[in-house]
Amino acid sequence: MYTTEEQRRLFDLSKKLLAEPESTDAAGIKNLRDVILYHEWRYYAQNNPVVSDYEYDMLYKRLQAIEAAHPELITPESPTQRVGSDLTEDFALVEHLTPMLSLDNSYDAADLAGFDERIKNYLGLSADLEIEYCVEPKFDGGTIALVYENDQLVRAATRGNGALGDDITPNIRTLRSVPLRAEFSKFGIVKAELRGEAIIRKDIFVKMNEQRAADELTLFANPRNAATGGLRTKDPSETASRRIEAFIYQVGFAVDASGNNVLPTFKTHDSLIELLGNLGFKIPQHAPTSGGLGERKVCPDIADVAIFCNDWQNKREQYAYEIDGMVVKANSLELQQRAGSTAHHPRWAIAYKFKAKQATTKLLNVEFQVGKVGSITPVAKLEPVALAGVTVSSVSLHNEDFIRNKDLRLGDTVLVERAGDVIPYIVKPMEELRDGSEREIVFPTLCPVCKSELVRAEDEAAWRCENPDCEAQLIQRMIHHVSKNAMDIDGFGESQIERFYRLGWLHNIADIYRLDYEAIAQLEGFGEKSATNLKKAIEKAKQNPIYRLLHSLSIHHLGIKAGKILAAEIQNIWELKDWNEERFRQIKDIGPVLTHNVIRFFQNEKNVELLRQMELLGVNFNQTEADRKKQVSADAPLAGKTILFTGTLTKMGRKEAAAKAEDAGAKNISAVSGNLNYLVVGEDAGSKLKKATALGTVTILTEDEFLALVGS
Ligand code: IVH
Repeated sequence: MYTTEEQRRLFDLSKKLLAEPESTDAAGIKNLRDVILYHEWRYYAQNNPVVSDYEYDMLYKRLQAIEAAHPELITPESPTQRVGSDLTEDFALVEHLTPMLSLDNSYDAADLAGFDERIKNYLGLSADLEIEYCVEPKFDGGTIALVYENDQLVRAATRGNGALGDDITPNIRTLRSVPLRAEFSKFGIVKAELRGEAIIRKDIFVKMNEQRAADELTLFANPRNAATGGLRTKDPSETASRRIEAFIYQVGFAVDASGNNVLPTFKTHDSLIELLGNLGFKIPQHAPTSGGLGERKVCPDIADVAIFCNDWQNKREQYAYEIDGMVVKANSLELQQRAGSTAHHPRWAIAYKFKAKQATTKLLNVEFQVGKVGSITPVAKLEPVALAGVTVSSVSLHNEDFIRNKDLRLGDTVLVERAGDVIPYIVKPMEELRDGSEREIVFPTLCPVCKSELVRAEDEAAWRCENPDCEAQLIQRMIHHVSKNAMDIDGFGESQIERFYRLGWLHNIADIYRLDYEAIAQLEGFGEKSATNLKKAIEKAKQNPIYRLLHSLSIHHLGIKAGKILAAEIQNIWELKDWNEERFRQIKDIGPVLTHNVIRFFQNEKNVELLRQMELLGVNFNQTEADRKKQVSADAPLAGKTILFTGTLTKMGRKEAAAKAEDAGAKNISAVSGNLNYLVVGEDAGSKLKKATALGTVTILTEDEFLALVGS
């Protein structure tokens, strides 16, 4: 359909258009339409978009704005004059009972306020009047439309082009969450069309891909693709095997025996959804039922909508399903009817889109960094791109295999993802956008810093510089030594270490404990106070529990956890020097590789000398009883957290619950405040739950979730 050259041109053109946010000139209208059509093809037909949803929306909105200003330029073929299509030739086409429209998009509280204002204007309502909204997650799966007639599921279709969809009834019949029979007749409904989303739970998706990897099948890119693909296979048993679930979030059509529309009699969208829940459909739940923040909420006004949407934006990663925003709907069905729809979207609803998690950008260069144990990490330098609220210009490529497996090349356009707190990473190169100018990424054979030959052990992914005196390693080891998880020396970081190293004050980690604070005070940007603070922080670090010291030594694979396990076995660091393999083997969770690394560390006279100096300089080498106790309680699952129980507990008594919480290291408190970490909700929870939800900082748990957390 599109040649590679055309695709490249349209992609570059998109990026150019996106880089000029303010331009809405009529001359560019053809360009805009071309790129929008191209992105729709990539999204709907290829299931493989090359720009983020956000970027697509920006282009679409620009076109809408131009057309609004110049209605004479609107053509029937303009992308704004129809909804997107995912039709294929594999299925029979069926006509939806009412058109399945798209949603308009919003991105922040101001957009939401504008939406609220537009409804009021359109309906001639007073600006002071508050409209009530029902808000739900915007599920990121495949849209479906289910028709029930005389209480039977008679037809199921994809959204298709909004007017016509693919008939996928046999496939949908395999989904357990879709009742084949539901008593609509109890409510006087003879025929109804329900809309919803077919979606795969994230944890199930991960397991499914693991199984596929084991079976050497190609992996699904994401839960959405796995779900939409599963809906449209020719083999219903394949659909069934994908563990797809269907959330129902809308009734498009409902008539009684005489064919009269009965929707308005149900008053609100919220009550209609509740009714569907009672009929056996899977629906977005209210907070008390769903345990967490709640998937569905009736908000008294648009300001409350904005808070709820923002709370969800922050917790979306914790949710079991992929969602890409929230959907805001005027709750009154009468108001919905009066507001009606444009050709593209209902006036009474809007999507609140979360910040993009994926974006495409150029891979400009690869730098090779040397780590504290000499591992070489390739780091991709990217053309800066905005992703979920931050600008990304550099991402780790981990090792040579990562580059080879993904077939990354210099000059590639790459898809970058940043999910939640996860570090951004490259998903894949956009191979179809290559023009032949891309170049292979050549992995160095010599250390980029000390030029010694790199080696790669058979069972390791990383190439390593084996020269322990390599300058890069020395510096990295010192940076690691002072870092938060290691000796945690406050105010001492990468830039200071590098500066002191260049000044010749630091050669190894022992030197950190013999710094000349008077000299430091003379440095530009330091002064008496900073020097004194640094001294205090270093003196404090000398008293650290020994697991920190163990972790700070940059012994390969000796992390915080291994540090704690080893520390629990000894009274003094020097004991480890005399341990043999047999002694290590007695400890659960300490494997042969770490054993080998620790033994090797202590066999090296240089390391022993370094430790001796540190001991002389006053660094603590002894395990104290207090440290041992502290370590046990710090490992408890709720260590240092506050907790509160509310509602009627059904799985345990109040006292029992409080005791379990305490055993897990938590402190029971009596009121909801900014200090509260966990609220456990039983049945009929009331104001405490409301308040905690409004705060947005409290993690809300069901009784089962609490029990799982404390491990009972
Ligand atoms: S309501 C007329 N509610 O988002 C309004 N849509 O661009 C109909 N979607 O593909 C849509 N979650 O399938 C609605 N809670 C939700 C939704 C939702 C996901 C999808 C919908 C459509 C797209 C709208």
